[in-house]
Amino acid sequence: MVEISVAQEAVPEQGVVVVLVGTDGSLSAAAAAFDREGIVSRALGLPGPKRRHGRIVSLPLPAGLRLDRLLVVVVGKPEGLAARDMEELGAAIVRQLEADRVGEAVIASPAGLELGLEEDAAIAAMALGAELRAYRFDKYRRSGDGEEDEERKPLARLRFLSAGPAGTALARVRGLAGAVAWTRDLVAEPANVLYPESFARICESLSEVGVEVEVLRPAELERLGMRALLAVGQGSAHPPHVVIMRWKGAEQEAPLALVGKGVCFDSGGISLKPAGGMQDMKWDMAGAAAVAGAMRALAARRAAVDVVGAIGLVENMPSGTAQRPGDVIRAYSGKTIEVVNTDAEGRLLLADVLAYVCERFAPRAVVDLATLTGAVIVALGHERAGLFATDDDLAENLLAAGEEVGELLWRLPLDKAYSKHIRSDIAEIKNVGRGREAGSIAGAVFLREFVGDRPWAHIDIAGVAWSDRDLTLLRKGATGFGVRLLDRLVARRFEGR
Ligand code: BES
Ligand code: MN
Ligand code: ZN
Repeated sequence: MVEISVAQEAVPEQGVVVVLVGTDGSLSAAAAAFDREGIVSRALGLPGPKRRHGRIVSLPLPAGLRLDRLLVVVVGKPEGLAARDMEELGAAIVRQLEADRVGEAVIASPAGLELGLEEDAAIAAMALGAELRAYRFDKYRRSGDGEEDEERKPLARLRFLSAGPAGTALARVRGLAGAVAWTRDLVAEPANVLYPESFARICESLSEVGVEVEVLRPAELERLGMRALLAVGQGSAHPPHVVIMRWKGAEQEAPLALVGKGVCFDSGGISLKPAGGMQDMKWDMAGAAAVAGAMRALAARRAAVDVVGAIGLVENMPSGTAQRPGDVIRAYSGKTIEVVNTDAEGRLLLADVLAYVCERFAPRAVVDLATLTGAVIVALGHERAGLFATDDDLAENLLAAGEEVGELLWRLPLDKAYSKHIRSDIAEIKNVGRGREAGSIAGAVFLREFVGDRPWAHIDIAGVAWSDRDLTLLRKGATGFGVRLLDRLVARRFEGR
């Protein structure tokens, strides 16, 4: 991973330097210093979309100069800049430096430009974007020889220069980016490595940052009667585990509860999925990874909040011990469920974790994250996650938090009428709705049966947990969606004593 630092130093006259200039032709102090021989102005005069925000001109300099390369970056928008714009700029700089095969660079202070953003906030945002973009999951690839490896030369060091101190903002960025990277690692890890027990063990390491971690093992889950969660896992050689994490950064009347779906591999079970694309189902635990990552992010910044993070970890496999379509199970809450399709497994395990968390902690609000339905991809594609909520205030705070961090949500309905879709002839409810009708909503109304009447939101992240193509801030692969969203939600709505 890239090592990022800030220093209050003069701009070096060697190596690779990045300077910022305004869309209006203004130069930052550092850019002006380099413009003595007109090099910056000339760069901006090169053909191309002249002074659009985000344009980068990368100039290799002739041998004989001590400076190897100068990057001139255009910054500014008519409507003013948000932190998000600076994140994208940091990411764009990393993308350019990687294309230029640069291992180490210095980014000069934007001081002298009218950004509409404090200098330290601007630097912190650029650093966050840079760190998110520089992430890669490389542990199973050998580096060394070959052209491919040359192309993958990672950016090792990035030093931001600041006119004033920017150290605290950077420490915060590091905590958040570290939590997102940790989550992305978990999501990318294949299912032969990451299964319920090994996932639970990794969560135990959160005690090092002050999170209390409790692991409920199979015998305890039996004793508690989490039959819906156990039924999903009963076909697998890797038995289910539930992890309860708690960050108590404040004494509050009741905690906020975060709940995550952690299906370490979803083969569909006896309702087996087709072979094509089944390998993607290693990331069916992205909701759980985001909840664990959010706990880590909150602990890293010592958030003044009481939060419980609960994740249900299972593997959904077909075997002689697997549950069958038609089985009727009694969930932890006592409700009976007809399992019509063993591939609708996420809602089964969430039913038990949600009911358990509500009973044990009486939380003031509950937010669950789950890669729950393929149908949400049909509805929203990979641009937004589906949001369902029983509480408008919670929904609005989630929507706004999402806009701020660029993890976008779209609210879908939960009308009573949809509850009829999950009526069963043999049990109280069944685990699927009416065929292809409103599949994501059917999943959501099923979950609602297990949260009582407390404020609750469900976020279906099936479309956004993984990306098959590079995004503005993230290289393709696991996105870590949810970590920044939950961190921001807590800051907006739940923090304070
Ligand atoms: N994990 C899947 C949902 C999913 C599908 C996530 C594609 C990411 C990409 C979930 O467990 C599932 O299989 N859902 C079924 C529900 C159906 C059987 C009611 C689905 O979406 O087909
Ligand atoms: Mn499934
Ligand atoms: Zn699943």
